[in-house]
Parts: sequence; C-alpha cells; structure tokens
Amino acid sequence: MDTSIILALDYSNKEELETFLEEFKQEQLFVKVGMEAYFNYGPRLIERLKSQGHKIFLDLKLHDIPNTVCKSMKVLASLDVDLINVHASGGRKMMQAAIEGLEMGTPSGKKRPLCIGVTQLTSSSEEMIKKQLNISMNMKDSVVSLAKLSKESGLDGVVSSAMEVPVIKEACGKRFLTVTPGIRLEGDLAGDQNRVCTPSKAKMLGSDYIVVGRSITGSKRPLTTYERLKKEWGSLHEVNR
Ligand code: C5P
Repeated sequence: MDTSIILALDYSNKEELETFLEEFKQEQLFVKVGMEAYFNYGPRLIERLKSQGHKIFLDLKLHDIPNTVCKSMKVLASLDVDLINVHASGGRKMMQAAIEGLEMGTPSGKKRPLCIGVTQLTSSSEEMIKKQLNISMNMKDSVVSLAKLSKESGLDGVVSSAMEVPVIKEACGKRFLTVTPGIRLEGDLAGDQNRVCTPSKAKMLGSDYIVVGRSITGSKRPLTTYERLKKEWGSLHEVNR
C-alpha cells in the first residue's frame, strides 16, 4: 500500500462517495475523512472504510478547551483511526489534553492514533494572517513556531504547506511528521487554496504525506489520475533535506 498519498474523501453526496469508493475498490488507500463526510455519515463511514482495509486520517481539526478536547479525543480514539488532528493554535494544554484523551480511548492492544497539529491552513496567506489575525511574524516563522509548540506538547507531527517542510524538519527533526495539503497537479485550479504545490515539488521538499482532494476527486478519471500520481511519487527522490 502506498501510504504517502492521502486521498481526501470530501463528499457530502452519498452517491458520489459510493461511485468513488467503487472505482477504487481494488486499491488499499490512505483516505482522509474530513468534516464534510464525517458530519454526513458519522462513525459508520469509518467502520466501512476500515472493513475495506483502508488507512484513515480523521481530519476534524479539534480546537476547544482542553477538557472538551480530551473527552472528544477519547471518543474518537475508539474508532481506531490511524491519524487525527487538532489546531496547534489551541495551545500546549489543549494539545497535551488531546494526547491524554487519545491514550485513554485507544482500544487495548491497538496503537494510539498519530496526532498532528494544524499550523496555518493552506488556504491562509501571509497577508491574511497579518491583517486579519494580527500575527506579526511572517508565514514561515509562524508555522515553525506552531510546529515547535506541537512537538513540545507531545504531538507526532504537523499539517502545513509543503513549502514550509524544510524549515519544520530543521527545527523539529527529520522524524517529526509533515502532512501537506494544498497539492495541485500541474495545470489544476488552486480554488480556495493559497499555498499550493505540485506533488513532485512536495516530495522534493521532504513531505512525508501529501493530501490530495480536488485534483483527484474532480478529475474525469480519478483512478487513472491517482495511478499516475502514485507512479510519479514513487519515482521521485527528496533532494532538499
Ligand atoms: O481539494 P483539496 O486538495 O484542496 O483538499 C485539501 C483537503 O485538505 C481538504 O479536505 C481540506 O479540508 C484539508 N486541509 C487543508 N489545509 C489544512 C488542513 C487540511 O486543505 N491545513
């Protein structure tokens, strides 16, 4: 199974989701279930994807008071997903509480889901974080600062754009995971994303995992596009670490 490409199942329409899963039924995937799909189909979707042998990233980006995050993570850990996340801007106590909840909720004999912190969303631009969020740092420094905080709080890695991967690895070490959305195949539209990168650039920059949504779900032949991407990814080497 190629575990470095995570496919975003951003569907709220059951037929579209079924068509997509049917097309990929011979593949063992690493899929991302985000708010759109989870709020529509709930834990049953997770059970179903697991029964098909897929790995799961549950992308619900928790951000609340530590007690609420701890208790929610305890519930989510019982779903036995592989990867889960919180917003790093929730702070140290909240991230520590997330890990505590995951440890409490992980079924015995199973591994705790890896937990990563969202640094700055790939849809955010430097101008937006400066003007609207009053963050005085530039984008890279802000991402690195949130990555360091995530590491100190016991998280396993972060979500960022691929462009920030080299500085994150430098600050937090090679083994600290980087999961990078905002991936677009050459010629695809960026849509609401701002800090976008092609898969080959992301690999070159050292991304551990890329998250690909619309470049595959929106393509005329999703399976063919995925196969092409998998081949391209497998033949590339990191050069910048
Ligand atoms: O369609 P596209 O490839 O832009 O989808 C990216 C996916 O990754 C979406 O599901 C989005 O919610 C998610 N994501 C993101 N930026 C983050 C974290 C998650 O785009 N920082």
